[in-house]
Amino acid sequence: MRRIAVLTSGGDAPGMNAAIRAVVRTGLERGWEVFGVGHGYAGLIAGNFTPLGARDVGGIMQRGGTILGSARCPEFKTEAGQQRALRELNERDIDGLVCIGGNGTQTGSNALSQTGYPVVGVASTIDNDLCGSEVNIGVDTALNISLEAIDRLKVTASSHQRAMLVETMGRGSGYLALMAGIAGGAEAVAVPEFPYDPEDVTKEIRRAYERGKPHAIVVIAEGAKPNAQGLAQFVEDQKERLGFELRVTILGYMQRGGTPTYADRMLATRLGAAATEQVAGGKCGVLVGIEKGEIITTPLAEVVTGHKPLDPKLFELARVLAR
Ligand code: ADP
Ligand code: F6P
Repeated sequence: MRRIAVLTSGGDAPGMNAAIRAVVRTGLERGWEVFGVGHGYAGLIAGNFTPLGARDVGGIMQRGGTILGSARCPEFKTEAGQQRALRELNERDIDGLVCIGGNGTQTGSNALSQTGYPVVGVASTIDNDLCGSEVNIGVDTALNISLEAIDRLKVTASSHQRAMLVETMGRGSGYLALMAGIAGGAEAVAVPEFPYDPEDVTKEIRRAYERGKPHAIVVIAEGAKPNAQGLAQFVEDQKERLGFELRVTILGYMQRGGTPTYADRMLATRLGAAATEQVAGGKCGVLVGIEKGEIITTPLAEVVTGHKPLDPKLFELARVLAR
């Protein structure tokens, strides 16, 4: 009989619950005891463990967020915090931990793993900036929410011949903005990975009107420089010369709390089950992710030092398709 624990940490992502459910039920199938840790690494340090049975994870797959709760926990970044967490795990004879989360979470998993404790990471963040999985849990839902917003904004933009600026989340990554921009048919996209000049964006908006478009949608990542506020201010300061205004919509947390799509439920289910398999095989210290439809594992140390670039060809495609 083994005892394992599962936690969700960092920004919540739609699909986390499906991953928890898969870890719990595949663990139970092996005859293990599975514990849920409340509120990420904060709960680990506080000894917040609850045994989870099959019924405890019933009816959660269709819910956004995480039934375990999540947290940002600065204490876990310290060696003292990590040692306290280890003590809590060892006191309960828990011999494996599954950590579901993004870059920060996996940096924490790696730190724990470096002490020799068996940890497996599951790639989950709407930002899609985590290496070791071409798609992270939550991305598909977040993008579909963004698209619904863009489609609606386009309707109002067309009615009023108005330019709209839509800000997506993504921290330092422009993935959400670029993909939403392409699939939403934006006239311009601004992301942190590629420097841009506000004047060029205004030219794209002007060109859109000159080509006979009734609307102009600009999708901007929260990490772009200048950011949405800076770009909107630039247009506001020059509105007499430019002849149009730019209305801003910040999608923000709307993108995080949605009902998980089929793609996210399936991805999370497969990754959760794969995490249990890794623990069972004693192959810890890795992140489970997906690449070309297949489950892959990558050493956590590699994941947290890696960088996931944005495809410049897709950025160029966004420009070409905006004509
Ligand atoms: P995400 O996992 O979504 O990227 P964060 O960056 O907020 O979210 O990280 C989640 C948590 O992971 C942090 O609150 C902290 O507890 C832990 N963490 C982040 N960075 C480190 C680090 N360098 N060392 C140890 N733990 C970390
Ligand atoms: O990592 C997910 C994310 O939603 C980022 O896109 C965003 O920058 C950040 O979390 C917001 O963090 P918080 O939930 O702490 O406000």
